Amino acid sequence: MNRLQGKRCVVTGGGSGIGRASAQRLAGEGASVLVVGRSVDNTNETVSLITAAGGRAAALVADATSESDVQAMVRRCLGKFGGLDVFFANAGTPGTNAGIFDQTVEEWNEVWRINVISCMLAIKHAGLHMAEQGAGSIILTSSAGSLRANAGAISYSASKAAVNNLTQTAANAFTGKGVRVNAVLPGLVETQMTRKVFEYARERGKADRIGHMTPLQRAGQPHEIAAMVAFLASDDSSFVTGQLYAVDGGISSTHPHGRIPV
Ligand SMILES: NC(=O)c1ccc[n+]([C@@H]2O[C@H](COP(=O)([O-])OP(=O)(O)OC[C@H]3O[C@@H](n4cnc5c(N)ncnc54)[C@H](O)[C@@H]3O)[C@@H](O)[C@H]2O)c1
Repeated sequence: MNRLQGKRCVVTGGGSGIGRASAQRLAGEGASVLVVGRSVDNTNETVSLITAAGGRAAALVADATSESDVQAMVRRCLGKFGGLDVFFANAGTPGTNAGIFDQTVEEWNEVWRINVISCMLAIKHAGLHMAEQGAGSIILTSSAGSLRANAGAISYSASKAAVNNLTQTAANAFTGKGVRVNAVLPGLVETQMTRKVFEYARERGKADRIGHMTPLQRAGQPHEIAAMVAFLASDDSSFVTGQLYAVDGGISSTHPHGRIPV
């Protein structure tokens, strides 16, 4: 499938998990991908996986929360690939499971910086370029945990709820400019961020309980989130902006305890 032939993309958090799977999927559909990560090894490994599969990618070690680094991402994508059509702002951090009275300003500053400010900077700098060229797709990673309580740390869920509003606000700010802004809201997916949850369940012989509350009764895989990212990056979503797409096995559609089974 060459749905993304000619598209030039930036993927932050591209050295692992959902970001890596998305970079692979975008490149697999024909895009050139600038893989941005914090670790040289992880970022280079994603690029190697893409090039070994015949795709086009380059690595950049940069901080998604630094304004000058985000400007450098845009410059590098323009310089290396000759343009910028898609920015997937995916870098994220989970926060801690501290109770409501144990929340700290330090944690909230850190979680907000990585989960929200990174998205704001992507919108500001990728969006500026895209507005000038009259086209572009910005995709933010939110979370199914943004929609209701108890699916993540308190600071995390609140930060991802901010990402949802930022998605809608930015989509409207770009009115008439041809720039689309959408968010993907993953449910529970096994990555380095959630590894402890999976290991804990496996150690207790309860792996089959993971995700059992969702209608699909399982956790997700990174490539299943990547499929939505590829859709939002592509012209197949040309009439879609300001939207929040849960890719979560259906958990956000339900109050599981009230479900009446077939
Ligand atoms: N795994 C899940 O169940 C799940 C569910 C909902 C949402 N998400 C979101 O998906 C996104 C990707 O997470 P993941 O699950 O693939 O976990 P992950 O830990 O594999 O990926 C997070 C990536 O973000 C990078 N990162 C963190 N801070 C950064 C910074 N300042 N600059 C650049 N990169 C930075 C990390 O190095 C890492 O590669 C995150 O935004 C996360 O909140 C994950």
